Amino acid sequence: MFRSALSHSRPLVNKLARHMSTMKAVVVERIGGPEVLEYKDHPKPQVSSGKILVKNHAIGVNFIDTYHRSGVYPLPTPFVPGREGSGEVVEVGEGVSDFKVGDRVAYVDAESYAEYTAVNSLAAGKIPDNVSYDDATALLLQGLTAWTMVRDGYPVKKGDYVLVHAAAGGVGLLLCQMANLLGATVIGTVSTEEKAALAKENGAHHTINYSHEDTVARVNEITNGQGCHAVLDGVGASTWETSLQSVRRLGTLISFGNASGVVPPIQISCLSDKSIKLMRPKLFSYLATREDKEKWFNELFQLQAEHKLKLRVHKTYKLEDAQSAHVDIQSRKTTGKLLIEL
Ligand SMILES: NC(=O)c1ccc[n+]([C@@H]2O[C@H](COP(=O)([O-])OP(=O)(O)OC[C@H]3O[C@@H](n4cnc5c(N)ncnc54)[C@H](OP(=O)(O)O)[C@@H]3O)[C@@H](O)[C@H]2O)c1
Repeated sequence: MFRSALSHSRPLVNKLARHMSTMKAVVVERIGGPEVLEYKDHPKPQVSSGKILVKNHAIGVNFIDTYHRSGVYPLPTPFVPGREGSGEVVEVGEGVSDFKVGDRVAYVDAESYAEYTAVNSLAAGKIPDNVSYDDATALLLQGLTAWTMVRDGYPVKKGDYVLVHAAAGGVGLLLCQMANLLGATVIGTVSTEEKAALAKENGAHHTINYSHEDTVARVNEITNGQGCHAVLDGVGASTWETSLQSVRRLGTLISFGNASGVVPPIQISCLSDKSIKLMRPKLFSYLATREDKEKWFNELFQLQAEHKLKLRVHKTYKLEDAQSAHVDIQSRKTTGKLLIEL
């Protein structure tokens, strides 16, 4: 009698056990410096409709993670930071038809600093067989950011001059390669000579060490006083003025990040003298529909398959060392991608 009652309730017991199971994750309970990233037990996420549960093998560390942690982009606490990862699908939610258990996927979605992430299936793509989890993660978020910028934000064409700030950073190195691939003359700004050499190895034709050189004067020298067709600025507050001055008449300024701080409010009339087009993109707008996501994921992985992109991983961290990863990415000493491996 007792045994049959227990076996009858087994599915319920299993369901409860699943609900109560925990995993290791990095959790932010209050906003602040890197010290608020706590590695601890955390409830394993449930797959709801439209989602897949991914067992993470590699997690991307991106500058946006520091904005969430420090409150520049406010999120309700507590939260698991991270916007990028890759791994194996271990559960599929209702209504998901494009993924199955065992698929290798990479994604751009929230709460990736964890052993498991419940990912919106719209935000994930299958990783080609010959691409490792590390490479997929080193490429995805920063690669999509760079590729959407040079194909849609400002469609770079042969003969253009393109200025890329923080040219040796994660997004920066990919922007240099992609703008070069599309036929532009690429000018990269960097803070050290080592970074200048790296930017050149990755497609920059000219570099400006903006820690001691006059960026606008050098841009004018390189462009015969015309300025750049496009300025791609992920540095933000400290480069805003030079970016504005470095764009040519009818040129495009894309301000896509705040590594040095948020750009202060502007007078829109500052664009009028040169009729500048100003854009402030957010990658997630490019991935809002299945069609858009597939287009951009496919184009990026195609570039990778054709060996047109070099990936550079600065350092690989353990999940419990997320604090060091944040200290490092904010220190200006890193180049290329920071990864967490599980
Ligand atoms: N809009 C979007 O959808 C989107 C998506 C992805 C990334 N982003 C933005 O793209 C930018 C680059 O991201 P990333 O992850 O590739 O980072 P990253 O470029 O690898 O690191 C940031 C770089 O910014 C430069 N920098 C200049 N002033 C700085 C300061 N005061 N503090 C820290 N860094 C400073 C540093 O290069 P130097 O030492 O050479 O100056 C540093 O290496 C970030 O602003 C990020 O938010 C935006």
